[in-house]
Amino acid sequence: MRRKVIFGNWKLNKTVAEGVALAKELRAALPNPKCEVGVAPTFLALNAVAEALKGSPIAVAGQNCFWKEKGAYTSQISPQYLKDAGASHVIIGHSETRGRFGVEESVEDPDALKVFGDTDASVNIKARYALENGLVPIICCGELLSERKAGNTDKVVSGQIEGALKNITAAQVAGLVIAYEPVWAIGTGEVCASDEADRVCGVIRATVARLYDQATAEAVRIQYGGSVKPDNAKELLSKPNIDGALVGGASLKAADFLGIIEAV
Ligand code: PGA
Repeated sequence: MRRKVIFGNWKLNKTVAEGVALAKELRAALPNPKCEVGVAPTFLALNAVAEALKGSPIAVAGQNCFWKEKGAYTSQISPQYLKDAGASHVIIGHSETRGRFGVEESVEDPDALKVFGDTDASVNIKARYALENGLVPIICCGELLSERKAGNTDKVVSGQIEGALKNITAAQVAGLVIAYEPVWAIGTGEVCASDEADRVCGVIRATVARLYDQATAEAVRIQYGGSVKPDNAKELLSKPNIDGALVGGASLKAADFLGIIEAV
């Protein structure tokens, strides 16, 4: 049985004081959660949030990392520094760092949004470096609306996973987390239908089986992310291939996030 895993991705939300306050609320409410729980604060709040959660069952994740420990890399954060600040996990390849964010129709030139620049190759090198340095990567994948409309969802998602997992061993894959996040469902309130989310998570699992073996595919945990709320969490989390959730907006209020954890 795979243990369910729910992470809150706070994105660019919560000042240090707000993050600590939310962490304290979660800590008080979750002395013994029935699933794995974690939060991903901004880099600025990460250390204070980790301090507030020290000794609790709630894990802390970075929202990104770089593939060098230190040096002349303006704006970057290494897995080593994340660990030093109290993180155990790191989100890698979120569509917002791949530059795949934004519903395409909202801008004239979607390429203009590709400013953060993550690619399957950079996701792979970040994931490998995070693993080498003792962080659990949460590797994100997911198709754009245009890719779904063109019938390319499975091809896009399995291609992202194949690229992300290059040169990562079966044992490492078994221990990491994959998040399936259809880009059109992120922050839009338009959740992917649970059967379809389960089906694509199954495609991801089959991809892992093809690249490695059945045991690795059975072990890896695959979250769904994209407009997960307390009222749709139960149905999503009841699906056989959905092992948890990566929650954005609904992780910013303790009651909503706790409602999702309650649905496990
Ligand atoms: P959302 O974001 O829950 O606000 O849709 C999910 C995510 O981007 O991880």
